[in-house]
Amino acid sequence: MPRKIAAGNWKMNGTRAALPELEAIAAAPAKCDVLICPPFPLLGDAVATAAGRIAIGAQDCHADAGGAHTGDTSVAMIQDMGASHVIVGHSERRTDHAETDAAVMAKAVAVLDAGLVPVICVGETLDQREAGDTLSVVAAQVAGSVPKDATVVIAYEPVWAIGTGLTPSVDQIAEVHDALRAQVEAMIPGGDIPLLYGGSVKASNAAEIFAVANVDGALVGGASLKAADFVPIVEALSQA
Ligand code: PGA
Repeated sequence: MPRKIAAGNWKMNGTRAALPELEAIAAAPAKCDVLICPPFPLLGDAVATAAGRIAIGAQDCHADAGGAHTGDTSVAMIQDMGASHVIVGHSERRTDHAETDAAVMAKAVAVLDAGLVPVICVGETLDQREAGDTLSVVAAQVAGSVPKDATVVIAYEPVWAIGTGLTPSVDQIAEVHDALRAQVEAMIPGGDIPLLYGGSVKASNAAEIFAVANVDGALVGGASLKAADFVPIVEALSQA
């Protein structure tokens, strides 16, 4: 069985004033892995607050080890802060920073080379879904941006469901996750890769999403910022 992971992506939200929320998330009982990815400036404080009770990750990294890349952050810097995971290829990075599959692959490889865990995001736009291209788009992103390594975590996040309150039906999630499982099992035999769903996950829909075959957890944006919203999602996954 793949590990079950409840992951939170705080995106560009949160200052040190948000650390009590992290403390409350870390203190909550969980029968699954819990990961919070705060913005870069909070990484060190977040690791200290988590105190090993939950995992802390970054939201992006540079593929290079160092050098003339103003404003970027290397995996070694993230590791030095005590973080264990890095989200790569989030659709907001793919869109806002024109990240290609090859760029995402290079970042994921850099994360793995350091001994950290990449959480690699894939997902179709609404136009692609309406054109009937969902499975081919997701398959191409996986082929192009996921290294063949049993340490990876993959998050399926339909772009149109992120931050919109819209979620695919459980049948639509199942269709993509079944295809993902087959593809990833062929790429990384026996890897038991966790396949997370992301996009408007909240306490009220978490249980039905976690009941879908081949869904091993969630990558949660908005509903990960407050412990009162996120802890029920952790509980739903713990019971799934
Ligand atoms: P959301 O974001 O839960 O706010 O829709 C999910 C994500 O982008 O990871």
